[in-house]
Amino acid sequence: MPDLSTTYLGLSLPHPVVASAGPLSHDLDGIRRLEDGGAAAIVLFSLFEEQIRWENEALAILTAMGADSTGEASTYFPPIGDFAAGPEAYLELLGRAREAVGVPVIASLNGTTSSGWVDYARLMHEAGASAIELNIFYVPADASATGREVEQRYVDIVSAVCRAVPIPVAVKLSPFFSAMGEMARRVVSAGASGLVLFNRFYQPDFDLERMEVTPSLELSSPSEIRLPLLWLGILHGRIQTSLAATTGVHTHQEVAKYLLAGADAVMTTSALLKHGPGHARTLVEGLTSWLDRKNFSSVAEIKGSMSQRHVADPTAFERANYMKVLQSWRPGR
Ligand SMILES: Cc1cc2nc3c(=O)[nH]c(=O)nc-3n(C[C@H](O)[C@H](O)[C@H](O)COP(=O)(O)O)c2cc1C
Repeated sequence: MPDLSTTYLGLSLPHPVVASAGPLSHDLDGIRRLEDGGAAAIVLFSLFEEQIRWENEALAILTAMGADSTGEASTYFPPIGDFAAGPEAYLELLGRAREAVGVPVIASLNGTTSSGWVDYARLMHEAGASAIELNIFYVPADASATGREVEQRYVDIVSAVCRAVPIPVAVKLSPFFSAMGEMARRVVSAGASGLVLFNRFYQPDFDLERMEVTPSLELSSPSEIRLPLLWLGILHGRIQTSLAATTGVHTHQEVAKYLLAGADAVMTTSALLKHGPGHARTLVEGLTSWLDRKNFSSVAEIKGSMSQRHVADPTAFERANYMKVLQSWRPGR
């Protein structure tokens, strides 16, 4: 029986399959089912900066109005309960999850600025989070913003949160940096203990009948592993940090590929939504059979063994491979 154990963000895990942030962790029941389904750790859905801001603004408005006007105010503003449901309910769920499950629970913060919500990182730590994942979702729509300014924004958020909490902080990065390697280094220098590759950006669609921009969130497919696979393979062994893979993990094959590239943990959301939380165990069983069949004794043995530093042809990760692919391509293939 191969040894599947791994270490991610300093957390010892029995195997590398982790439930990434998503709707299955929205309540305690779902969190329990993720543990029962075999996930080695659970990343909770994100607490959004907007939810925190709404709460702060609503409280400020009500406080400024004075006691005698709150009755009237309540008819003008959405019920305070709606605002408070965000961060407070999140922290309560986190605390209850820590008591209810034995696996590490990683809280997730989604924001774009370093002010105001860093306190919530501290509260997440106090509520018992094993670690915090920062999901920095930021589309630099201001066409005058420079690449360095955009990068600095990430670095500022990471250092502010890392200064605020003693627990490990992982950063779920976007793939859209012109110098991914240096950006990864800067994020780690700012205090991150791990990188999660990559954030799967929400990309709006157009409704041609209603002529509206519509939200669209589709489940991933296995072919989407390629971009994270490329960068895990390049970064492994070059940056001293924990690495997690996210996107496209539907079968044990994607798990194995990500481990070979250098991931310490392999995360999945879409496949668990599609097949149910028990699919985590199916992935682990598939990985075990594959390791057995290939005569590997452990996950540690294969981790990073096909990263750019270890493969016979390191140019396979770079431009040379592009030319090979084009030269071997034939119409109709
Ligand atoms: C319905 C849904 C909700 C999600 N919610 C979050 C979230 O709250 N925070 C976050 O960081 N990622 C969120 N994600 C992204 C996932 O954590 C994951 O990174 C992404 O879906 C790629 O992995 P997959 O191919 O296994 O789905 C969500 C994904 C889906 C499909």
